[in-house]
Amino acid sequence: MVEVIRFGVSLEKDLLDAFDKCIKRREYTNRSEAIRDLIRNELVKEQWNEEKEIAGAIILIYDHHKRDFVEKLMNIQHDFHKVIISTQHVHLDHDNCLEIIAVKGKTQSVQKLANILASVKGVKHTSLSMSSTGKGL
Ligand code: NI
Repeated sequence: MVEVIRFGVSLEKDLLDAFDKCIKRREYTNRSEAIRDLIRNELVKEQWNEEKEIAGAIILIYDHHKRDFVEKLMNIQHDFHKVIISTQHVHLDHDNCLEIIAVKGKTQSVQKLANILASVKGVKHTSLSMSSTGKGL
């Protein structure tokens, strides 16, 4: 069982009021859970920078009609087969595709893959969401 420790935090009233409004907008029911998430997020960010193992998703939007595009995309993904866990492809409309690529690996490898994909001509938008199992968080 995980040990939970209570601790006191002193804050200026204005700052606390603003925080309470913020967590209400984000649907938190209490401050503790909101503060826990803030701390976890900061620790995850630190892990990204420390070159540890991260997990996440790369999202791509592209027009599949571009010449040689699909083959190029496939080749890149095969080059990064050690980083890519799975890929989901959605045909958004007649022209556009959405691809969600689940990734796991070193920050540097995941970021490199995202950058290469973003640079392919025909890719309209990419986003990279990096997360972590945050062992012990
Ligand atoms: Ni498609």
